[in-house]
Amino acid sequence: MEKVIIFDTTLRDGEQAAGASLNLQEKLEIARQLDKLGVDVIEAGFPASSVGDFEAVRLIAQKLERPTICALTLANIEAIDRTWEAVKEAEHPRIHVFLSASDIHLAHQLKKSRDEVLRMSQEMVARAKNYLDDVEFSPMDASRADPAYIYQILEAVINAGATTVNIPDTVGYATPQEFGGLIQGILDNVPNINKAVVSVHCHDDLGLAVANSLEAIRVGARQIECTINGIGERAGNASLEEIVMALKTRHDFFNLTTNIDTTQIYRTSRLVSELTGFPVQPNKAIIGANAFRHQSGIHQDGVLKKSITYEIMDPKSVGIPSSALVLGKVSGRHAFKERLSELGYTLSEEALNRAFRGFKELADKKKEITDRDIESLIAEELRTVTEVYHLDHVEVSCGDHSLPTATVRLIGPDGQSLADAALGTGPVDAVYKAINRIVGIPNRLTEFAVKSVSEGIDAIGEVLIRIESEGVTYTGRGASTDIIVAGAKAYMNALNRLLAAKRRG
Ligand code: KIV
Ligand code: ZN
Repeated sequence: MEKVIIFDTTLRDGEQAAGASLNLQEKLEIARQLDKLGVDVIEAGFPASSVGDFEAVRLIAQKLERPTICALTLANIEAIDRTWEAVKEAEHPRIHVFLSASDIHLAHQLKKSRDEVLRMSQEMVARAKNYLDDVEFSPMDASRADPAYIYQILEAVINAGATTVNIPDTVGYATPQEFGGLIQGILDNVPNINKAVVSVHCHDDLGLAVANSLEAIRVGARQIECTINGIGERAGNASLEEIVMALKTRHDFFNLTTNIDTTQIYRTSRLVSELTGFPVQPNKAIIGANAFRHQSGIHQDGVLKKSITYEIMDPKSVGIPSSALVLGKVSGRHAFKERLSELGYTLSEEALNRAFRGFKELADKKKEITDRDIESLIAEELRTVTEVYHLDHVEVSCGDHSLPTATVRLIGPDGQSLADAALGTGPVDAVYKAINRIVGIPNRLTEFAVKSVSEGIDAIGEVLIRIESEGVTYTGRGASTDIIVAGAKAYMNALNRLLAAKRRG
């Protein structure tokens, strides 16, 4: 059975999404989960673009053995050399060189002629090839370029040693028929195309990324670049879970397989959502909260009689946990650990102990602990950020006839206890002002969202915030049955990320 190579770019293009900011440990955590999911290639970052990306690619290259670890690079000598430094310790390294190919980009951005770009493409692939065998090349904005010029570039880079040629619909402009036509044209007109894998990389500006990718596969592309939950630059990239489940569910049509363990899809989606701070819309195909919920009476009746009447996929096949209700006050550490492993989490002893303490505290306040509650507790554990300041205590006074006032106590970098108080327009504002008085780092709150993770008055409230400092966005999340405490935790989480980034320079 022919296979489609799944190239995941959540950690590169996905992380390029406005407002996403993952630290080193979070990137490693996601990479490990992508490994479990069975992706063939992980694009771990863009090493020459920042120190953070360089470190992340290097760490992932050192730690993961099975998948190919790919790093993106601009088409210039310094960037390629630095990219090799980041990826060289991988068991299976890949360098991905890209250069614009449309006349629009050549004229307005690169200010170079077609001949110059053709020569650069060939030379830079050859440069990368000096270091390793596995080299991918992308002619950026290919869907708006002259197809004849794309054929020329592809022939040249394959001659220079490219083993994968990736065709990006960079601005999400193509329609399925058109994009399929471009791929067919490449297969028919590039004389040495059989020496490389044809890949596609589609953006979702017109909501067509998955449709375009599937049409490219139908025509003959054999690598798909995609992201978990479809996150990515602007409207995002093609969503991995939709492509994989389309190939699996419509095997009768495509007659192709992948190496993906689809039962890991839900868990991977939750992890990426928790760590990036991008919620998944309820009606999102495959992994949205409503994707397998039947509301209409007729549908419910049908599903109860035989699920195939209205369900084209089994929710278990994408790893959606079957029972919603799990543990309670009397559940012990063993039961908690068991449930975690059923949900796909393996924590270190230390992290497990902390999570179990959190679980016990929660069980004191909340009668029934659901999977979503557990995921929220674990997400706290996974939001690993070196704490410069730790939230020790928060107290507010507010009401319709009082001035919102907050008192906070933080544990500082040298273990000292630091307390302050402030007034605000509301309790959250007062808490943030009191924290600012202690930490003293200028920043602007750009987003504040609160949601309940499960149903019921005693549910955990999750706060997601984004703050901006010197043009960089930092995401923070916090969870508690008290939303003021959750808001304080989220703010500390974002501030600690900001401080960690400043320390790294
Ligand atoms: O969208 C795009 O063109 C890209 C390339 C770097 C492959 O992300
Ligand atoms: Zn892209």
